[in-house]
Amino acid sequence: MIKNDPLNGVKPQVLEVPAYSLHAYEAEIKLNQNENPFDFPADLKEEVFRRFKAREWSRYPDFVPDSVRTRLAAFAGWHKDGVLVGNGSNELLQAALMVLIDNGTRVVIPSPTFTVYALIASILGAEVIRVPLNTDMSYNVDALVSKSESSGAGVLIVNTPNNPTGSVIRNEDLRRILEEFSGHVLLDEAYFEFWGYSGLELLETYPRLIITRTFSKAMGMASLRLGYLLAHDALVSEISKAKLPYNVNQFSLTAAEVAVENKDRFRSAIEEVLKERDRLGRELGGIPGIKVYPSEANFFLIEVPFEPEVIFEDLYQQGILVRDVSSYPMLSKCLRISVGTREENDRLLSALRTGMEQRMSGGSEGARESI
Ligand SMILES: Cc1ncc(COP(=O)(O)O)c(C=O)c1O
Repeated sequence: MIKNDPLNGVKPQVLEVPAYSLHAYEAEIKLNQNENPFDFPADLKEEVFRRFKAREWSRYPDFVPDSVRTRLAAFAGWHKDGVLVGNGSNELLQAALMVLIDNGTRVVIPSPTFTVYALIASILGAEVIRVPLNTDMSYNVDALVSKSESSGAGVLIVNTPNNPTGSVIRNEDLRRILEEFSGHVLLDEAYFEFWGYSGLELLETYPRLIITRTFSKAMGMASLRLGYLLAHDALVSEISKAKLPYNVNQFSLTAAEVAVENKDRFRSAIEEVLKERDRLGRELGGIPGIKVYPSEANFFLIEVPFEPEVIFEDLYQQGILVRDVSSYPMLSKCLRISVGTREENDRLLSALRTGMEQRMSGGSEGARESI
């Protein structure tokens, strides 16, 4: 053993798990992170600045951010003591898993799904069990139920709409899962506003359900890192032990307060994204060689009949950044594309059309140069 090896003592599961990484590409049109293409409204930013300026910056935020929790509870239709606020919903996923996972706990996740679940669960010592989606990328509910029960899993994580596929799991299926599986179900609703449905109505009846949501997508606040968790009060008290004190900074708390007080102002951006989603889905589907999977989120998974890196690179050369998801299970020919503004989507479509036409007609090198 090398005495000064910096990795001595690092847990084996940490050494084994691949890092969550994102290459820092810069591009004029950014369609790679499922962000809202419409920024937080300028006048509301001014209101956040005004309120934040009036606070003493030398003071910590409130130990328990009750005013934001109260507003979030009303916003979500749940009660204050069942709400936890986090530095992004990722932090709340982590806190929830910290209190539910012991060494060897089995955690069932669909596959493919958001990579952070397996990363956190593995670092915490869980055995991660992946249940493949169906080939059309829909959820295989029978397999999720049977695998969760038969493996003796402690936790099942589901993401609806699912990143990166856009597929959803309906409440009747969630209900079935909660009836037949005796562990905790972590329901990640990061994109629920684009779908319009939530598992919230199941919370009262099923106290093993935990819902996480974020202000990073529909609410246009990805840079401020604000997420919230909804669960039964007793469970929230336990999960809150695993999050750091003062985890959310006062600026983000203030912005959340302003956002919730003006929630109707965010509706038009969501409506515009939904309108563009319909159009983009139709147009993408009309490009020869591209298969589009149905999506209830603000992004699409597309499949091409050759290595997707080539299309990724070609789009990037034209200032358009999408997400290459070809390393995910089942997605070796896939890219994920966020819904942008009308102009952004038009530029994407025109670049894709030209490139695919040329590649489909056999001019692969030519296509690479021209798109
Ligand atoms: C499914 C899913 N959950 C959670 C998150 C993270 O959200 P947050 O920014 O609130 O940490 C993302 C971000 O892309 C996501 O896709």
